Amino acid sequence: MSSRMTVNGKTHVVQAEPGTPLLYVLRNDLGLNGPKFGCGLGQCGACTVVIAGEAVRSCSTPLSAIGDDNVTTLEGLGSQDKPHPLQKAFLAEQAAQCGYCSNGMIMAAKALLDRERSPSEDVIKQTLADHLCRCGVHNRIVRAVRRAATELAL
Ligand code: FES
Ligand code: FES
Repeated sequence: MSSRMTVNGKTHVVQAEPGTPLLYVLRNDLGLNGPKFGCGLGQCGACTVVIAGEAVRSCSTPLSAIGDDNVTTLEGLGSQDKPHPLQKAFLAEQAAQCGYCSNGMIMAAKALLDRERSPSEDVIKQTLADHLCRCGVHNRIVRAVRRAATELAL
């Protein structure tokens, strides 16, 4: 069946069942590869997108749950020419090794910084605590989020 959805401010009509995980629609139908498939069980955070200001795990969110809300993916944050402060900060702090977790870390941080301009280090750590990074670059990630918060506050 066809479903209408708004992603990064653009309306799309996709052919997918209402129970299809949002992640599959984003990657397979819309070609948005920012959100990653990690566990598929809502446990690792690699697939995170932002919906109505909340960080949401797209692998465990059915298409039918989105309604008219805009879905923001990593692609909606910035571009190579005009990266979002979080994207710039992750590069500046070299906050990735394999990069598989980066999408989830950045999108969760985006939802945090949109509601709290100057979060403490503890709040950043709590926010990202259930995002898994197998490479162990957590400290750099936290530094990157702090750097982006500083830039956004200027
Ligand atoms: S792929 Fe969605 S939480 Fe792991
Ligand atoms: S940089 Fe590899 S999983 Fe985080």
